[in-house]
Amino acid sequence: MERELTLEFVRVTEAAALAAGRLMGRGDKEAADQAAVDAMRSVFDTVNINGTVVIGEGEMDEAPMLCIGEKVGTGSGPRVDVAVDPLEGTNLLAKGLPNALSVVAVAPQGCLLHAPDIYMDKIAVGPRARGCINLDAPVEENLEAVARALERDVRDLTVIILDRPRHAKIIAAIRAAGARVKLISDGDVAAAIATAIDNSGVDILFGSGGAPEGVLAAAALKCLGGEMQARLMPEDDEDLERIYKMGLSDPHKLLLLDDLVKGDDILFAATGITDGDMLNGVRYRGKTAETHSMVMRGITGTIRNIYATHLMDRKPDFVLKRDCHH
Ligand code: FBP
Repeated sequence: MERELTLEFVRVTEAAALAAGRLMGRGDKEAADQAAVDAMRSVFDTVNINGTVVIGEGEMDEAPMLCIGEKVGTGSGPRVDVAVDPLEGTNLLAKGLPNALSVVAVAPQGCLLHAPDIYMDKIAVGPRARGCINLDAPVEENLEAVARALERDVRDLTVIILDRPRHAKIIAAIRAAGARVKLISDGDVAAAIATAIDNSGVDILFGSGGAPEGVLAAAALKCLGGEMQARLMPEDDEDLERIYKMGLSDPHKLLLLDDLVKGDDILFAATGITDGDMLNGVRYRGKTAETHSMVMRGITGTIRNIYATHLMDRKPDFVLKRDCHH
């Protein structure tokens, strides 16, 4: 993919963040999701790609969709797969809590996992622990292997995991092994990325979350040199049917990083909506607004932090509905 596209995808996540950020703390998840989706879709349609959303939000919580199979872009330009989460952390935004993001990942056609919006079991680490994890091994074994790779004791590791009743067993096993635990209420994309960021204070992610979030995290981890393994978690025959329809022959296959995101030709962009560990949230300052984004390119591994000041009066209507900034 042309490297010039890098900035184009930042525009896409910036627009979603600017639109959704207005609704921080208002307790209205649906409105915020809709605002993010509308803004993201509009800006995508100005980008010179022939894109298809291969994994995205929608089915699980009936969010307004940039739905799976939807075409994005002008239609001229490279054929690409797109993974989207216009508002990752709807609850976080609705409550004004940290780490709500807008996220996209793009790769050549056929390179991102095409899967339904169901749960996915995940394990993720940063570059120094690459090659040491195994989703099928017991929690303790993974912790020991990661501790060895990081030249530390298991008790000096910090595990990040969504605080959900379904994780009770894993959390108990982590605690029994002696590692530290950071329970989060939402947002496992930012959590997975944190494992690959120096000084984030987080070493390994365990647990299940959304499949789209898994593919997005995998795209970022590829760019950052980390590792992730995953497995789809179909809950009924309908889920199985959807998986088969999307071309996966084994719904229970252990998905390695390259199954989630094939090759290195990947672009990943994220813009902060609420303040977070990696990204500042949107700041509205009357006529201007500021955004903080991160964009990564798999081929070179370049990571760019982009701080933008937006003149709100000069944004085209399709980016920000006029009533959003009056
Ligand atoms: P949404 O933005 O769709 O609400 O996702 C937030 C999130 O916490 C994800 O980061 C995570 O993958 C998923 O929800 C976990 O699902 P659940 O809340 O059903 O456990």
